[in-house]
Amino acid sequence: MTNNTFLVTGGAGFIGTNFVKFLLNEDAEAKVIVLDALTYCGNIKSLSAEIESHKIEFVKGDIIDRQLVATLLERYTPAYIVNFAAETHVDRSLDDSRPFVRTNVEGTLNLLDCATAQRRAQLENGKESTLRKFVQISTDEVYGQLEIDCPEGAPLSADTLSKLCREDAGVTYGSSAFTETMPLCASSPYSASKASADLLALAYCRSFGLPVAITRCSNNYGPYQYPEKLIPLMINNILLRKPLPVYGRGLNVRDWIYAEDHARGVYAVATAGRVGQVYNLGGYSERRNIDVVKKLINIVASQVDDNAGIDESLISYVGDRPGHDMRYAIDASKAIDELGWRPLTSFDDGLKATVAWYLANRQWLNDIVSGDYLSYYDKMYSNR
Ligand code: NAD
Ligand code: DAU
Repeated sequence: MTNNTFLVTGGAGFIGTNFVKFLLNEDAEAKVIVLDALTYCGNIKSLSAEIESHKIEFVKGDIIDRQLVATLLERYTPAYIVNFAAETHVDRSLDDSRPFVRTNVEGTLNLLDCATAQRRAQLENGKESTLRKFVQISTDEVYGQLEIDCPEGAPLSADTLSKLCREDAGVTYGSSAFTETMPLCASSPYSASKASADLLALAYCRSFGLPVAITRCSNNYGPYQYPEKLIPLMINNILLRKPLPVYGRGLNVRDWIYAEDHARGVYAVATAGRVGQVYNLGGYSERRNIDVVKKLINIVASQVDDNAGIDESLISYVGDRPGHDMRYAIDASKAIDELGWRPLTSFDDGLKATVAWYLANRQWLNDIVSGDYLSYYDKMYSNR
């Protein structure tokens, strides 16, 4: 019988949750174990249906815990380890980078070490290694920033549109995009910690034969995202008629991808990606931050019963993020050509679905937006 066991670390976070739900839908035979420390952004309620119906096993624990990780590997012998667990917010890494090095570097190193030890023991005992892929979930931020050399936005090339099988006219704000062969050039402590983890993962592949593949994806949005990131933060503030804090002049560009599209890409890399390879994943949906915020104001206003006070007067330009990367854009040709993957959700559809999800799940949001979240918010935004 094929071993379809997935150990998903950080599965109670935003993308991990979307991945677990996608995986269960895609592969009814998959056995899924989620290991998550439930830090401030991990939310067990996001997976309560899957836990209660015994579709997954949930283990609360830290990826840095050697004994725990070794025990889980021995008990479940996963065919796939997918490492989403991380500290992920750039602004927090500027405030205190130590938790980022701890989880993103030392935690990843521990997973690599434990997986290598298991593989070595299996081979030494004349058995086949049970691990088929260790997927390290990285980020496009490891490449640094790109220039904006088309400030008004230029249409995507016909070649790109045909690769994506997309008819809607997308735009790009620059002539370059990140490719997998670009040097790592991280700007923030967050991205530096992710780049370090990438190098360790590739070194474990080369030195010890661990079957590693890496994904580097652009900005995700969708259901279950913690409201410290741009899109859910703005949705929450719009609903509360609170000021919408736009950093700098709001002209920084991000390449947005619906989290379910990312999840499908991660699954493709796990099951069909080549060992030792890096795969970029992106949405081909470049937007300036200010345009995203204005669009959100319109979408929220169109979806709520009472939209009084929901307008652009809520926008508040605030001090810029130190070292703020100007533009991200992904060239995902390698994943598209090799794996047959492509992003399926347009930004307009994805954003409408995301707003609808937050409106339908106000309790999920309200449970977060209290106590610790409010202290965080005051700390981060009071002196901007
Ligand atoms: P998130 O912040 O929503 O969730 C992170 C999860 O990891 C949480 O459930 C948290 O409890 C868990 N976690 C943190 N430290 C842990 C530890 N020491 N041990 C076990 N679990 C721990 O993050 P996300 O946005 O879902 O990002 C997931 C991964 O994808 C990260 O590796 C991130 O770098 C990468 N990524 C994110 C984006 C994005 O736009 N959000 C884009 C590209 C790549
Ligand atoms: O590109 C992938 C990365 O995307 C992931 O690796 C990170 O984990 C994820 O957090 C995200 O990083 P960003 O810094 O791009 O995302 P964030 O949502 O924090 O910010 C998006 C843009 O919006 C960025 O240019 C900063 C700006 N911004 C953000 C917030 C929270 C604002 O203008 N105001 C805000 O309040």
